[in-house]
Amino acid sequence: PQQAYLAGQKIVITAGGTRERIDPVRYLTNDSSGKMGTALANAAAAAGAEVELITTAQQLTLPQVKVTAVQTASEMATAVQSRFEAADIVLMAAAVADYRPAAPADHKLKKQGAAGLTIDLVQNPDILAQLGNAKTHQFVVGFAAETNDLLANAQTKLTKKHADLLIANPVGSGLGFNADNNTVTLLWPNAAPEPLPTASKIALAQTIWQKIAQVRA
Ligand code: PMT
Repeated sequence: PQQAYLAGQKIVITAGGTRERIDPVRYLTNDSSGKMGTALANAAAAAGAEVELITTAQQLTLPQVKVTAVQTASEMATAVQSRFEAADIVLMAAAVADYRPAAPADHKLKKQGAAGLTIDLVQNPDILAQLGNAKTHQFVVGFAAETNDLLANAQTKLTKKHADLLIANPVGSGLGFNADNNTVTLLWPNAAPEPLPTASKIALAQTIWQKIAQVRA
């Protein structure tokens, strides 16, 4: 039987790509399937934690996890913030849209003709950065999915967002978004990057929690 090394820990995890409405039938989103965040939720629950998953992707069954469905970055922000005070660990595996349509239409947009269509976007809140700034006792974890300059970009996010751990996630060649396998490097403050071997998201999720539990022990 697996050791309950996260027993007593309240953990909030986010998963999936947010959906930002353009009109009642269209939205902007990304390729995040929610698999990585869901695997992390299952692994944390199996290790004894009390887990809530705040997700845009609900297709998977999670017997031991409380699941809260959201669609937009703003809804995700509200859900995470309201649970932050009581949480021990918050892990943001979601791919949160940085921008949303400024004025979603309340009717289906009509074809505009050859001149094209322009949609104005406004910036979404950066949930992870807000948590990093506001944290008191919480341990805050983020991901960074990058197509280029992976470690440099992830290192910048670790520092700027005041995370306690940033998980650098290369995108492409069957890894990252929507794949079953992943390759990640753990970036801890003031330490050398810690690459983990390529593995299934399910196996990686267990390793990530074991490493976090060790650091917090
Ligand atoms: O869902 P899967 O298909 O399994 O894919 C998993 C994944 C590749 C989506 C996941 O492992 C991952 O890397 N998630 C982060 C995706 C990303 O591109 O993050 P980012 O670099 O835009 O943001 C960095 C961090 O800040 C993330 O923890 C993100 O959740 C958070 N963020 C970003 C923007 C924003 N407005 N608010 C945030 O909280």
